Amino acid sequence: MRSLLNSLAVLTGLLTSVAVAVHPVEVQGQDLIDTVTKKRFMIVGVDYQPGGQAGYKPQEGSDPLTNKSVCLRDAIMLQKLGANTIRVYNVDPTLNHDDCASIFNSAGIYMIIDVNGPQSGESINRAEPWTSYHKDYLKRIFGVVENFKNYPNTLAFFSANEVMNDMNTGKVNPQYIRAVQRDLKAYIKAHADRTIPVGYSAADVRDILQDTWAYMQCDNNGDGSESDIFGLNSYSWCGGDATFASAGYDTLVDMFQNSSVPVFFSEYGCNEVMPRVFDEVASLYSDKMAALSGGLVYEYSQEESNFGIAVINDNGTVSLRSDYDALQKQFNKLDVTKFTATGSKITPPKCDKKLITNDAFDSNFTIPAVCPGCQTLIKNGIDKPTNGKLVKVTDTKGPNKVYGSAGGEVSGLTLKLLSNDGVNGPSGETSSPAGQSSASSSAEGSGDKTGAASKLAGGWTLLAAGAVAALTVL
Ligand SMILES: *[C@@H]1O[C@H](CO)[C@@H](O)[C@H](O)[C@H]1NC(C)=O
Ligand SMILES: *[C@@H]1O[C@H](CO)[C@@H](O)[C@H](O)[C@H]1NC(C)=O
Ligand SMILES: *[C@@H]1O[C@H](CO)[C@@H](O)[C@H](O)[C@H]1NC(C)=O
Ligand SMILES: *[C@@H]1O[C@H](CO)[C@@H](O)[C@H](O)[C@H]1NC(C)=O
Repeated sequence: MRSLLNSLAVLTGLLTSVAVAVHPVEVQGQDLIDTVTKKRFMIVGVDYQPGGQAGYKPQEGSDPLTNKSVCLRDAIMLQKLGANTIRVYNVDPTLNHDDCASIFNSAGIYMIIDVNGPQSGESINRAEPWTSYHKDYLKRIFGVVENFKNYPNTLAFFSANEVMNDMNTGKVNPQYIRAVQRDLKAYIKAHADRTIPVGYSAADVRDILQDTWAYMQCDNNGDGSESDIFGLNSYSWCGGDATFASAGYDTLVDMFQNSSVPVFFSEYGCNEVMPRVFDEVASLYSDKMAALSGGLVYEYSQEESNFGIAVINDNGTVSLRSDYDALQKQFNKLDVTKFTATGSKITPPKCDKKLITNDAFDSNFTIPAVCPGCQTLIKNGIDKPTNGKLVKVTDTKGPNKVYGSAGGEVSGLTLKLLSNDGVNGPSGETSSPAGQSSASSSAEGSGDKTGAASKLAGGWTLLAAGAVAALTVL
């Protein structure tokens, strides 16, 4: 009886909930696992920071996830691309991100959020980390946790990005990053109602990568400062002539094969050969690289660094670059139903100087003590946090025109609200209309009608069946 009542309560919850929500994802050994379907979650992602670092304007009350219309415009194009995750680098913990988070959630797109910011006091200062690890800094990063912890599509937090980028910065920063991770994880445990993984996003500087990795993953007497996930910003695969071996992906696989936690590319997409063809996508999601959990392409918008797959025009319209087409084509070739969990549950090695190969790299595993006043902050929570919550997404029509790589207008600019709490995936669509569009090429361009719906539905068959089964039991 009790279980019947529980089931009824759950069902009522399902029927009355206003907002669809992606399933929280959690870490199980080397895999990211969807907590409801129990299937492996592979990150098919894109780094998202329109405006670059300058898109973070706390003084003006805006950051990349505050403008509903901008998020809708871009979520539509990321959905069509086939992405299931974005990474956002700089957010203000005092702002309201409900509309944007909800739009991405409804689109079946998860978010990985960096807790730091580019302004003074908003990150660990790699030159003198001890000066920046203090209560005010923790207030900021705990604020980001408070802000994003209630969104089911918050996939993970990054504690830091590329703080160690050469031997010199590898000398003392690792222990501070572990201190920050320990505190973030303790805060999440005390103040969030689910686990949210915390990890470090590493520069692919091969001199220090192995040591960085070893330092971040090892078990330091169970102090909880280890990374739950490990992101690698990987730019070694350049152009159509590169191969698994020439890009050094074989070395990466060797290094991460025995990882105790999920590893993925937190950035990839070398731009030394333009336009990009993204052949590395096929490798990244192949059986050979099953130890990795996918990755995020750097990056959605074209900024000074020339990595964008789309140009955001001054009038608010978007022009796709051929990089978008190439990436979409590569994503479309993936069979996302085929990904299976590695099932790897490897015990991390105990932290020990022996794990560190280079004498100059940090091998001090005495993690800095919790900063003055910070334990109370962790226990009681920060004052007046801004807690986000999902809101209903009603506007789905693209607010701006989007031009394909050959100049023609992209059709079907509507956000698809995924039913059954679905995750977005490659749709088989070609968004950029071919050159001077003839009748037939424009039909192909508006892939909504054909490939998109059916392929997505295929991915959810299991979910739908599960829902029917639940109803039948009742
Ligand atoms: C959102 O961005 C659009 C396009 O850049 C702009 O026109 C609009 O004013 C912005 N809205 C807010 C509330 O800032
Ligand atoms: C990974 O683990 C396997 C099995 O324990 C072992 O044979 C192999 O040498 C390890 N590889 C690396 C690179 O440590
Ligand atoms: C917006 O700006 C782009 C780039 O300058 C231009 O190609 C396009 O025609 C403009 N669109 C509108 C609707 O103004
Ligand atoms: C190791 O780091 C701790 C702080 O985390 C520091 O107090 C200690 O002096 C360091 N030990 C050495 C040998 O540098």
